[in-house]
Amino acid sequence: MKLGEFELNKIYCMDAIEFLKKIPDNSVDLIVIDPPFGIMPRGKMMRNGERDNYKWDNINIKEFTLEYSNKLFNKLKQDSFMYVMWSQKYFNLGIEIFKPDRIIFWRMNNLLEYVKGDFAYDYIPIFVLKKGNPKLVEGKYSCDLEFTKPQSNFKKDKLLHPTQKPLELLKHIIKISSKENDLVLDCFAGSGTTAIACLKLNRKFIGIEKEQEYIEIAKARIKPYLKQSNKNQDLRS
Ligand SMILES: C[S@@+](CC[C@H](N)C(=O)[O-])C[C@H]1O[C@@H](n2cnc3c(N)ncnc32)[C@H](O)[C@@H]1O
Repeated sequence: MKLGEFELNKIYCMDAIEFLKKIPDNSVDLIVIDPPFGIMPRGKMMRNGERDNYKWDNINIKEFTLEYSNKLFNKLKQDSFMYVMWSQKYFNLGIEIFKPDRIIFWRMNNLLEYVKGDFAYDYIPIFVLKKGNPKLVEGKYSCDLEFTKPQSNFKKDKLLHPTQKPLELLKHIIKISSKENDLVLDCFAGSGTTAIACLKLNRKFIGIEKEQEYIEIAKARIKPYLKQSNKNQDLRS
């Protein structure tokens, strides 16, 4: 199966906006994105005084978001969800552009970085957009989602990308908003967290990421899950 010219269960190295021009509207069952916000265009200061690679964050947030937001939403099938992990700093702008139907929150229970003398950035707002009238898998769901932030010294969910999201957070969102074999799109794939969650839950995915460095990380991360998923597929067919 393919989406336009793109094979499923792959991460492609390309620009999200170019990708959106190449796939049909109303073709994806679920969209989950964690886009750039232009917060750290000069890179993030590390403990050793060096700056890490945040060059992908060097954007004008309003222009960039306006350029992709509607085009991306149009790719959703009717009665489907789109989730946007957003930024506290640009909360109002995000609401103005995405006009979310709901807002849920990822609350970190292991905050390491904080601003002295100010409130900590220890939650991430996640916008929930509905196309038509989609329904969550039956159950009761809080909008307060507590998950541990990946860290470089973790064995499970080890930090490999500066803004990597918890695998369990992605699994939760995908599990309650889609069904087996549905196609999930993440066009700012980073280290491939959405892709792994999809493989674990028997969903199909397409990931788009423009930095080759993160593509390599994502490919290495998803490889064992891809093998397992192919094995399971063979057993089922
Ligand atoms: C916030 S990070 C995503 C992190 C990801 N959720 C994870 O868990 O690893 C955003 C990613 O979008 C990528 N990116 C930025 N602009 C892009 C564009 N125009 N097209 C595709 N990817 C882009 C960046 O390189 C970065 O890896």
